[in-house]
Amino acid sequence: MFTQIEAESAISQARAETDKRAVRQPARIVSQFSRSFTLYEEAKKHLPAGASSNIRIYAHDPFPILFESGKGSRVWDVDDNEYVDLLSSYGAVVLGHSHPAILEAINRQLQNGTMLGTTTELEVEVAKKIQSAVPCAEMVSFANTGTEATMEAVRIARAFSGRDKILKFEGHYHGHHDYVLFSVESPSVVAGLEQAPSKLPYYPGIPDEVSRTVVVAPWNDPASLERVLKRNANDLAAIITEPVMGSAGIIPPKEDYLKSVRELADKYDILLIFDEVLTGFRIAPGGAQEFYGVKPDIACYAKALGGGTPIAAVAGRRDVMGMIGPGKIGYGGTYNGNSMCLAAANATLDELMRDDGAAFRHMHLIGTEIMEGLRDLMARYDQNGIVQGIAPMFQLYFTEAKRFSTIATPSRATSTSTESFGI
Ligand SMILES: Cc1ncc(COP(=O)(O)O)c(C=O)c1O
Repeated sequence: MFTQIEAESAISQARAETDKRAVRQPARIVSQFSRSFTLYEEAKKHLPAGASSNIRIYAHDPFPILFESGKGSRVWDVDDNEYVDLLSSYGAVVLGHSHPAILEAINRQLQNGTMLGTTTELEVEVAKKIQSAVPCAEMVSFANTGTEATMEAVRIARAFSGRDKILKFEGHYHGHHDYVLFSVESPSVVAGLEQAPSKLPYYPGIPDEVSRTVVVAPWNDPASLERVLKRNANDLAAIITEPVMGSAGIIPPKEDYLKSVRELADKYDILLIFDEVLTGFRIAPGGAQEFYGVKPDIACYAKALGGGTPIAAVAGRRDVMGMIGPGKIGYGGTYNGNSMCLAAANATLDELMRDDGAAFRHMHLIGTEIMEGLRDLMARYDQNGIVQGIAPMFQLYFTEAKRFSTIATPSRATSTSTESFGI
């Protein structure tokens, strides 16, 4: 077992390698992106690492491109280069940039106040729309980010069960709070065995005490999960999982895997939380739980729900969500359910559900076409690689492997996952 200090040092070493790559400035690239480069240099003087979210830096080599505007599927950078936006704000702008229906809804709401600080009719309306789309959503609570949603879900599960520990899977990202920031992306030298991954903090600043509340298991492997459950069931409040693994490229669940997780959660009397921050309102109207036919006890939504505005939701069983309330567990947030973001969510849901969910059929169609097109191109140019995922969320990997079904294979094969994922 490696100590936290050894793990942290290995992680810093891997990050330093990435940082070294980030300062390279190939002359040809700089000329086309000179303003991006200059602004990024300026940003570094004022924002730690030059950005307000690390992924905006280290997923972009040799330096990040800074964008200025977006409309529909297109974005323009500060050097006026035009792009088809495949980033889509990490899945948040599901309808494209500045969608007219969302703009109109926000503009209308702006005339009546951005937030009123009370429950509103609009809040009830959006909750009802989520309930009619999402199978597990007997009750809905709003928050602002995916991080907040998973944090609240974990607390609700703890209060409901009277137990403290949660089980998360290696490679899954559930946001930015301490309880879930373990074994997200581990350098191969400290990652442990595929069937028994080490429990490692994602980075420094996460108290050692918190690690005692987390149990880590490998994903897509029911036998290993049952082994871990047998040892820890009495202490576990919940299993939290991304139903489609989205932080190591896109890794779909093996056939019936989510059903096995549901059955094991029931067998050991543990709540099941689906983190649908990526899959929600993206792969199906009811998210992964509808797509795979597996109902969790609690589910978390953000990203696509707001169509590009910061809103999140926790949805779940009436008895479990009933833990929230005065005299029970606290649930708070000044901006929770603010009218401006609710207006955007309301318009987004209307657009997504229009014509019996035509938007989802469209996303599956064009996603499939792009995936097949990429495979054809790789074959034509004799390039090793795989394109895998579900059409509205997929990933191209440059690799000799035939398929990735867990983070373990790519991350243990090279020193950092970004090298093998070609992000
Ligand atoms: C699966 C998943 N859960 C939670 C989060 C955290 O969401 P947010 O960045 O809105 O806090 C993310 C963000 O990328 C995510 O992909």
